[in-house]
Amino acid sequence: MSKKVKTDRILVTGGTGYIGSHTVVELQNAGYRVVIIDNLSNSNVEVLNGIERITGIRPDFVEADCTDINALRNLFLKFPDIKGIINFAASKAVGESVQKPVLYYRNNLNTLMNLLDMMGEHGVKGIVFSSSCTVYGEPDENPVTEQSPIKKATSPYGNTKQISEEIITDVINSGAPFKSIILRYFNPIGAHPSAEIGELPLGVPQNLIPYLTQTAIGVRKELSVFGNDYNTRDGYCIRDFIDVVDLAKAHVIAVERMLEDKSDKKIEIFNLGTGNGLSVMELINAFEGATGVKVPYKIAPRRVGDIEQVWADPSYANNVLGWKAETPVADTMRSAWKWQQRLRERGIM
Ligand code: NAD
Ligand code: WQD
Repeated sequence: MSKKVKTDRILVTGGTGYIGSHTVVELQNAGYRVVIIDNLSNSNVEVLNGIERITGIRPDFVEADCTDINALRNLFLKFPDIKGIINFAASKAVGESVQKPVLYYRNNLNTLMNLLDMMGEHGVKGIVFSSSCTVYGEPDENPVTEQSPIKKATSPYGNTKQISEEIITDVINSGAPFKSIILRYFNPIGAHPSAEIGELPLGVPQNLIPYLTQTAIGVRKELSVFGNDYNTRDGYCIRDFIDVVDLAKAHVIAVERMLEDKSDKKIEIFNLGTGNGLSVMELINAFEGATGVKVPYKIAPRRVGDIEQVWADPSYANNVLGWKAETPVADTMRSAWKWQQRLRERGIM
């Protein structure tokens, strides 16, 4: 594959993880050189092979922890051409964060603060930060815009996202010599259509799609659908499920926007969602329709802490970034299923 290589290098923290790996593929397809830093706490170094098989390029990789400032210093010495950072590295399990709050605050916040320190020291032009629709909590109205109220976080994980947004805002407002784009993801699902990379949950999945595909392939007996008595059109929770490749593409646009100074603003926030809320049952039906595979499920009690319904108004990202989620949900269901089957073929699941 011949690509016009750009001179700028992007540091992708957490780049062997789920969203990070898909983003590295899109960055490399766009001609960026990439270096990944990941401590492999929630991913596998094998992912680099998948990225290489898709793009023909093996990204540079440093196995290290972003909370280790000396490791970051060494990385910047080795790669002085880093001009942008995308910070995916974080611990992300909501339930675990309630049990181990210090681990979450330390990992997620120290990672961010170390990176912000490095940026000033090394002339990096911008940082893209992975935030979450979790900042909107249970919204008063849907869809949510970037101006919708931020609700008090209900978990330490969610709080790290809110605090991180505040840290970035304070640092930018203090006159830092770089820009930031904060991306609030809704519910990323699916995998690369090649099935070379995808989501690899460790242990019992907490999220809907990995649990669903593991049930469909027989690893789990049945999917528990948490609650059917919500005040929604069919009684099930509603989410804005967004294809991970669509999501990844937004990061390339965001990086380019900062590196090429396309905006006068030093800090910008965008919702990344489809704009369409789908209920849990609608998603199960979409999976069955797209793959022809039945998912055994039972209706179970509501899950404590679940939001009833939330979906994005993505028009700001659509209009300003020129980005739009475009993958039909049936295609996303097929990619998720193909990935699950690939894991089975490889004897992983
Ligand atoms: P992931 O766990 O698959 O990827 C995160 C990666 O970061 C992993 O590879 C992990 O090993 C690495 N990592 C964690 N702490 C690190 C550290 N201190 N140093 C180096 N590497 C470290 O998660 P993901 O789903 O790809 O999420 C990426 C980002 O997006 C996270 O910040 C997450 O909070 C955010 N986010 C995810 C979702 C979602 O539903 N997946 C939704 C909204 C926001
Ligand atoms: C989706 C829907 C469940 C599993 C979480 C985080 C959020 C963000 C995205 C990072 C809900 C239902 C699930 C199952 C089910 N992450 N469900 N049976 O809870 O919207 O968001 O991931 O920022 O912060 O909280 O995603 O996939 O867990 O659940 O019925 O076995 O599926 O009740 O309605 P959620 P999810």
